[in-house]
Amino acid sequence: MSNIKNVVIIGASGSLGSVVFEKLVASGKFHVRALKRVGSSSKFPAGTEVVEVDFDSLDSLKSALAGQDALVSTVSSGGLESQKTLIDAAIATGVKRFIPSEFGSNLDNPNARKLPVYGHKVAVQEYLIEKARTTGITYTLVYNSAFLDWGLKHKFILDVSGDKPTIIDGGNRPFSTTTLSTVADAVIGVFGHLEETKNRGVYIQDAVITQNQLLEMAKKAAPNRSWDVMHVKLDDLTAEADAKLTKGDYSMQTFVPYLYRAVLDPAYGGNFTGKTDNELLGIKEMSEAEVFEVAKSFVYTT
Ligand SMILES: NC(=O)c1ccc[n+]([C@@H]2O[C@H](COP(=O)([O-])OP(=O)(O)OC[C@H]3O[C@@H](n4cnc5c(N)ncnc54)[C@H](OP(=O)(O)O)[C@@H]3O)[C@@H](O)[C@H]2O)c1
Repeated sequence: MSNIKNVVIIGASGSLGSVVFEKLVASGKFHVRALKRVGSSSKFPAGTEVVEVDFDSLDSLKSALAGQDALVSTVSSGGLESQKTLIDAAIATGVKRFIPSEFGSNLDNPNARKLPVYGHKVAVQEYLIEKARTTGITYTLVYNSAFLDWGLKHKFILDVSGDKPTIIDGGNRPFSTTTLSTVADAVIGVFGHLEETKNRGVYIQDAVITQNQLLEMAKKAAPNRSWDVMHVKLDDLTAEADAKLTKGDYSMQTFVPYLYRAVLDPAYGGNFTGKTDNELLGIKEMSEAEVFEVAKSFVYTT
């Protein structure tokens, strides 16, 4: 039995956070409090307990976390570093379980861990791991590899909205993929299985898929459209990114190829086959037909 009742969520207005927030509330199992940055224009449904905080102030965070059992952070890349102060505040106020803003690649994989795009996430993990050794806080890292719905909407795993999808390294590399909704289910599953998920990464997926399979689904959904596929090599993409980093270009655009490396290169652990925690967390994989329905919703048919 979980003794998690009061859950605080950070970044609850975001792409992932809004879905996690909705599902936490809808589960009826938790009292949910949302923390937002002072001056943020984030909006929440009427009746939501919202606390404005200064994420650089330990005192501000401590008063916002008073009485909370668990914390889930879904902050964007800009907010990752500030999670260290959040961890300090969580320890000071007796928060039992801390779920940091991971929700992506398998950072237990030593190769993925070294990718420049994950510097802040790894630093936060290391801080949290050390604190879990020396204080009462515990943590869970949720690894879901590439988002499926978000990844199609934002043309990351494949651009099925235009006519020129980019296929990387031939398109036959299998990777794990997960919808935002399933990630939210996993968070709730963690709160229901505190001991089994204590101080480790949990692996979840809705499906394992390839870019070519997604392209076939897009073609099936829009049989009258023509497709002008662009083929690129992952090594070329990351070599370009390396060159940009050397010149001091730290834009998100520069970092994207490293995300592809983590998702698609088998040496970086983006295919979770045989190691998922789906069963523990109550997640049922999607059938091919269900994945097709998700993919179809992002394909323009005319
Ligand atoms: N696996 C994948 O394919 C994939 C794809 C995308 C994202 N992700 C991961 O999912 C997590 C959430 O990403 P997201 O795209 O959902 O985030 P997002 O929508 O861009 O932002 C989430 C929230 O973060 C807060 N925020 C924004 N900038 C901030 C800053 N500079 N400092 C502090 N807080 C800030 C905002 O909340 P307030 O305004 O309310 O304060 C915002 O609503 C991240 O860890 C990200 O890496 C994974």
